[in-house]
Amino acid sequence: MALYSEKVMDHFRHPRNVGCIENADGVGEVGNAKCGDIMKIYLKIDGGTITDVKFETFGCGSAIASSSMATELIKGQPVEKALELTNKAVAEALDGLPAYKMHCSVLAEEAIKRAVKDYYDKNGIAYDKSKFPPDEECEHCCMV
Ligand code: FES
Repeated sequence: MALYSEKVMDHFRHPRNVGCIENADGVGEVGNAKCGDIMKIYLKIDGGTITDVKFETFGCGSAIASSSMATELIKGQPVEKALELTNKAVAEALDGLPAYKMHCSVLAEEAIKRAVKDYYDKNGIAYDKSKFPPDEECEHCCMV
């Protein structure tokens, strides 16, 4: 069996939603402390719906495929729905990632959460802090 699924290879070779959004409503950036890879997510939000999302990822193929798939999964969704996106769901949508590459998908979940938090903070929107784990609780990620 191939190491990577066809979906992973497709999203790696043809990533969706690459780039940045000028005047984004929320921006989230995380880095993997171990490998040094970085992911940045930009959200455009209108009336509580994610109308546009873009990403910039400096990292491995799995991180790029995870970013691409994650942006596809949250585009057009209510902001709250984006908070429910787990790295496991991103990996499943990619038809799986090798076990030792699962941590790469964590970057996508964390970057999206930070972008939503940024949106909430900028707009004075109250939120449940328990949905945003403190930095030290994520063994793979760190703020950059
Ligand atoms: Fe760094 Fe995949 S090896 S995120």
